[in-house]
Amino acid sequence: MPLIDIIAGARPNFMKIAPIIDALKRRNAAHCSPIAHRLIHTGQHYDRNMSGSFFEELGIPDPDANLEVGSGTQAEQTAGIMVGYEKVLLKERSDLCLVVGDVTSTMACAITAQKLCVPVAHVEGGIRSGDWTMPEEINRLATDAITDLFFTTSEFANDNLKRAGVAANRIHFVGNTMIDTLLKQLPRLWRPSLCDEFGLSSGQYLVLTLHRPANVDKPANLRVMLDAIMSGSRDDKVVWPVHPRTRKVLTGLGDVGLSRLVCCEPLGYLNFNYLVREARGVITDSGGITEETTVMGVPCMTLRDSTERPETVQIGTNELVGTDPAKLKPYLDRLFAGEWKKGNIPEFWDGQAAERIVCVLEQYLGG
Ligand code: UD1
Repeated sequence: MPLIDIIAGARPNFMKIAPIIDALKRRNAAHCSPIAHRLIHTGQHYDRNMSGSFFEELGIPDPDANLEVGSGTQAEQTAGIMVGYEKVLLKERSDLCLVVGDVTSTMACAITAQKLCVPVAHVEGGIRSGDWTMPEEINRLATDAITDLFFTTSEFANDNLKRAGVAANRIHFVGNTMIDTLLKQLPRLWRPSLCDEFGLSSGQYLVLTLHRPANVDKPANLRVMLDAIMSGSRDDKVVWPVHPRTRKVLTGLGDVGLSRLVCCEPLGYLNFNYLVREARGVITDSGGITEETTVMGVPCMTLRDSTERPETVQIGTNELVGTDPAKLKPYLDRLFAGEWKKGNIPEFWDGQAAERIVCVLEQYLGG
């Protein structure tokens, strides 16, 4: 029986693996030759609100192995994950290592597997920001350089891979598993208690997320960005679930003294996406959130100078504002004037990506 390792390590991985595990289970229930899998959690994210709550809310089974790598520098985390995963593979080799996204766990496990001659499948392969200052871009480049099977979310990703010389028969344009999860969970989203606590009404508040080193690691820069956000957001409250990385910098800033800014702990998936769906708009430096806002038709402003997901700008509701705080105001003015673009949904972001992935895996593994 073929065995697939499914790797997850950090928050944005969990919503990408959940539908793949579901689709594998459905496939196995309908076939007499099962495809087995092991879920490997690297432990890159370990807080309940960064990891455990996603397993519960998305119905992801307990991992078969937890490498418990914890926090550290890029190199420490990479090394710790590689050592831990190598042990798993040496104990029992798998037939395929399936990684998702662009986090450190993605790259570390892909390298470990391929060095033991275990082929690698990369879900969300081929996307590129062109910005080598982002650890995620290095992770994407390194992972894709040693990937056997690419599962892509957009024509942009397909083109990037073709330009890099990847043979067309290794590229499978399947859509977006993060959107599989969103579409499945939309009816289950629920209103967090902070809506009542802070008097948030639908369409009359903004959601903010910030965690990129370029935006949050220098307290003075973060302060200027927060001032720009608050001065442009009129009377709206700005709800900010604060990522642990950002929390450390924010604590050093002292009292930010902004009464309309509602800071809270990172939220679970169902609460967070409820808040996003009902918001006037979202300001973020995340990549995944720009995909979710595109599907929910919520205006999104990205505080980055580049994006690896250009379809969210060209087709969806996202705008690339940049990291200069002075650039934000015209976008907020357009939002408050009710003149934001409507946007469409990119091809194959239809809730069926994981089914397509499992069909390809079946052929690849000869199941
Ligand atoms: C990682 C991903 C990023 C993703 C983000 C989402 C990489 C290179 N980056 O960045 O692509 O968008 O996750 O959240 O993989 N920490 C906790 N509790 C946790 C996890 C982390 O307190 O459960 C702290 C750590 O001590 C660390 C900081 O948060 O100092 C950042 O965590 P880390 O895993 O290094 O990267 P992220 O910034 O979360």
